[in-house]
Amino acid sequence: MKNLKLVTALAASVALPSAGFATELEVTHWWTSGGEAAAVAELAKAFDAGGDKWVDGAIAGGGSTARPIMISRITGGDPMGATQFNHGQQALELVEAGLMLDLTDVAEAEGWKEKVFPPSLLEACTVDGRIYCAPVNIHSPEWLWLSNKAYADAGIPVPTNWNEFVASAPQLEAAGKIPLALGNQAWQSNLAFGAITVAVAGLDIWKQVNVEKNMDVAAGPEMAAVFAAVGDARKLAAKSTVQDWNQATNLVLTGEAGGQIMGDWAQGEFQVAGKVAGTDYTCLPGLGLNAYLSTGCDAFYFPKNDDPEIEAAQKRLAALLVSPEVQVAFNLKKGSLPIRGDVDLAAANDCMKKGLEVLAGGNLLPTGDMTWSPDVVKQNEDLMVEFFKSDMAPEAAHAQWVENLKSGL
Ligand code: BGC
Repeated sequence: MKNLKLVTALAASVALPSAGFATELEVTHWWTSGGEAAAVAELAKAFDAGGDKWVDGAIAGGGSTARPIMISRITGGDPMGATQFNHGQQALELVEAGLMLDLTDVAEAEGWKEKVFPPSLLEACTVDGRIYCAPVNIHSPEWLWLSNKAYADAGIPVPTNWNEFVASAPQLEAAGKIPLALGNQAWQSNLAFGAITVAVAGLDIWKQVNVEKNMDVAAGPEMAAVFAAVGDARKLAAKSTVQDWNQATNLVLTGEAGGQIMGDWAQGEFQVAGKVAGTDYTCLPGLGLNAYLSTGCDAFYFPKNDDPEIEAAQKRLAALLVSPEVQVAFNLKKGSLPIRGDVDLAAANDCMKKGLEVLAGGNLLPTGDMTWSPDVVKQNEDLMVEFFKSDMAPEAAHAQWVENLKSGL
């Protein structure tokens, strides 16, 4: 996407909203659900308010569909102005190939090192001491979202953790509900697996496997218990036939399903539908068993461009994304947490407050995207989809998973 030189030329005669920049940037991302679209609109609004123009390049189908498209455009010489990735290893090869703009000067001018919290968010943007992405939020996948209506219909209390959730399934089924809503895409089953791992095995085991990469622990009894719990999840989700994650959220929202394991972006859907946290729905970080959250993140990367006007606009957008006003407006709609502590979150709802408490308590993990290569993540996604769609024994899935991890050592 080229900037409109024409627009620049006309700038003198056409009234521009404020600072008077006038560069078009195409921004690609995979935020297409109702809540996501509402959140991304805040970013566009803020960018346009400076006179530049956000050209929205939403790609439907989720991150696994969008990322290969984004990558092939960048490597194929058709770079967009900016693009979302989950920061960590997803864009590492592009950075290493010299295809991404170095944002270190923006980061220094804006004091990102002092402001971004936790520091791991900026570290995941840093390669050889240089900063290549602007983090915009903290997203954590380890949440169980429950429908208060489904439980009221079944005449039983809303569970307070995963074990109670599993135990409540027969009564939910008797009331005609699907216990667990789960979309068909591979990443969704892999996300459920990751959330169940932290909840059931706990933080130490998670770290030994994913950070220290101890393959004996990976093959051991604690992870066997996790695979058994994932087997439970498979039974509970047997009647869930939807595809996209937000369709699964919708089953919870309408009370057709009891719950969904999904990242905190699900909150955006409840909000757009006017549902109230604590009244209409309940959220359990760490599935109510271990209130740890992994500090995954959406970040924007800016593919290199040989046009200095575009580069200047890219840097304006990078600075804007981290600014306090944009952080508040965007994250309140997105359901995620801001990447800086010095912003006013008076309007946070119950679930966001729970996330903020976990964050303040420092009970944090890096995400799998930061610790394993995209290749290992993909192999595990394929394994999980196969597991959820077949009668594969938990023990067999466990053994295959250990092999997948070993391929990434
Ligand atoms: C992103 C979220 C997004 C979710 C579902 C995740 O990879 O980090 O921002 O809402 O995918 O689209």
